[in-house]
Amino acid sequence: MRRKTEGTKPAACRGGLDIQLLRYPSVPSTNLLLKEKLLSGEMDRETLVLADEQTAGRGRLGRTFFSPGGGLYMSCCLRETDTQAALRYTPAAAAAVCLALEEMTGARLWIKWVNDVYMQGRKVCGILCERVENWIVCGIGINLRTPEGGFPEEAGPLAGALEADLDREELAFRILKKMKELLSRPERAFTEYRERFLLYGREVTYEGETLTVRGIDREYRLLAKRENGEVLALRSGEVTLHGQL
Ligand code: BTN
Repeated sequence: MRRKTEGTKPAACRGGLDIQLLRYPSVPSTNLLLKEKLLSGEMDRETLVLADEQTAGRGRLGRTFFSPGGGLYMSCCLRETDTQAALRYTPAAAAAVCLALEEMTGARLWIKWVNDVYMQGRKVCGILCERVENWIVCGIGINLRTPEGGFPEEAGPLAGALEADLDREELAFRILKKMKELLSRPERAFTEYRERFLLYGREVTYEGETLTVRGIDREYRLLAKRENGEVLALRSGEVTLHGQL
């Protein structure tokens, strides 16, 4: 007898998305897997990759992403030729994760610029979007449960979990659907992102300098004031928050 596994769903449950699904018990990295398939020419259609665990999960700025069994590790490749539009994937993914998780858990989610998703002061999700030729590979990792013994140091001091047993395939398709909707409606994407932006008025450190956050502009640049009053518009990098979230 064939056993039904979590996530084996009919196409109707995929939110009407015509996208290929590849599911693995364990891979080094879902982003890497998709990038390799795209670069080798083995893949030429929009695809969602899901893994139950990653053995070499990749984070931003060359970091690793702690990816034990039981979390959600997904990467999708979406065709994109427009360089300006490509910049909108990361914030759209962050807002889409918030919207999907809010629907499925009832909790309120927040975004720490650029693309970390927080719940109750803890980072529960990381996002890594990478460009490969005419594709964007968007990787999303969500901590569903705190691992036995807690999160290791490599996960960062603010790592946390949703503490929810969600159907991972359903969650992944919901995120993907929201993301596509937001990409086709940039104004709405900006509103959803801005409403969840965590850093208004907060003091942060950016490249060793203390700045006060004023907000974000329509290109998702962080507007932050120097001590001399000059306002910077930061496109990328990482800020460290002073005090508690
Ligand atoms: C970060 O917080 O620095 C970004 C983490 C992104 C992790 C996801 S998990 C799925 C996909 N595959 C990876 O190797 N990384 C991304």
